Amino acid sequence: MEKSLKLIIAFFSVVLVLFVGFFLFKHQSNASNSSGWDYQHPDMWKDMFPKDCAGSKQSPIDITFGDDMVTKQTMEFIWNNYQNPPENMTLTNNGHSVQLDVQWKMNHWIPYLSVEEDSPEYVFSNLHFHWGAHNTEGSEHTINGHGLPLEVHMVHFKREYKTIVNASNYQDGIMVIASFYNVTSKNSTAIQDIINAAEKVRDEGSSAHIDNFLLSDFEVLRDTPSWVSYNGSLTTPRCLEVVTWFLALKPYDMTEDQIKKIRSLKLSHGDDHDNRPTQPLNGRKIFYYEFR
Ligand SMILES: *[C@@H]1O[C@H](CO)[C@@H](O)[C@H](O)[C@H]1NC(C)=O
Ligand SMILES: *[C@@H]1O[C@H](CO)[C@@H](O)[C@H](O)[C@H]1NC(C)=O
Ligand SMILES: *[C@@H]1O[C@H](CO)[C@@H](O)[C@H](O)[C@H]1NC(C)=O
Ligand SMILES: *[C@@H]1O[C@H](CO)[C@@H](O)[C@H](O)[C@H]1NC(C)=O
Ligand SMILES: *[C@@H]1O[C@H](CO)[C@@H](O)[C@H](O)[C@H]1NC(C)=O
Repeated sequence: MEKSLKLIIAFFSVVLVLFVGFFLFKHQSNASNSSGWDYQHPDMWKDMFPKDCAGSKQSPIDITFGDDMVTKQTMEFIWNNYQNPPENMTLTNNGHSVQLDVQWKMNHWIPYLSVEEDSPEYVFSNLHFHWGAHNTEGSEHTINGHGLPLEVHMVHFKREYKTIVNASNYQDGIMVIASFYNVTSKNSTAIQDIINAAEKVRDEGSSAHIDNFLLSDFEVLRDTPSWVSYNGSLTTPRCLEVVTWFLALKPYDMTEDQIKKIRSLKLSHGDDHDNRPTQPLNGRKIFYYEFR
């Protein structure tokens, strides 16, 4: 291929990535600012968004190890491109969470994963956090009725649907990888990467560039002895029932100081937590996977 043609293609790829990133960013901030829901009255979401928040496959849920659980033998997560250095990382306090959006120079550098060899690819979209006011609560999912102080959601959309907005129309459109953090005496490197910039996004609606780091810093990519999976929903309105959940059961370490920095972020309506209460399972199965 001629050199100038290559340059032109490269240029338009960058323009496209920036344009799509900007569109998603706009879409998400509009969605959060225009709605009046809060975490002090999550029981009202059903009335405000009856189509989905009142559905029968809602998230989060309590994970119990009883009759609803089905043990599966094999599963292999294939993480691709998470070690690629980003071009640009933006942290945003949207009033309901703090969210990290990432851009890469080339489309084919964007991270994606699949759950087995030859299974559909899910493309990384963003990640965000759920926390609470005390160390015994904050995670959205609970394990045997117990909450953890922090839950991180890595949101992915199915490649065949092209964008996260389009994917949100399909029952298998979104895959969220959830991981838990507990307070111990050890810092989390990944959480530190985020909270280094937390002061810049203390106020609702604020947004800042942060120093680039590798998404592969997140502990869930390295140290995950067991997973559970089930079909559920987004945990914020409109609560669309389009999510395949994968939860890494083993909590990772962070320090008291780290969770305190996260709690200092100001949420809308004076909320001091952003975890939705657990929802009924309604006969759904939970799959359990252990690596051997
Ligand atoms: C980084 O992303 C932000 C927000 O999406 C955008 O305003 C900015 O222009 C981007 N910067 C670069 C160098 O791409
Ligand atoms: C949404 O996904 C469907 C199924 O892959 C595809 O045919 C359609 O073109 C996509 N729409 C947009 C707007 O990307
Ligand atoms: C989290 O830490 C607390 C306090 O050290 C401990 O009691 C609890 O068992 C831990 N939870 C898990 C799931 O490891
Ligand atoms: C955790 O990291 C912070 C910031 O780098 C540092 O100030 C602190 O001493 C570390 N704490 C522990 C327990 O390693
Ligand atoms: C989720 O739904 C899909 C499609 O209906 C199904 O193939 C899959 O087994 C379900 N997963 C779980 C964990 O129930």
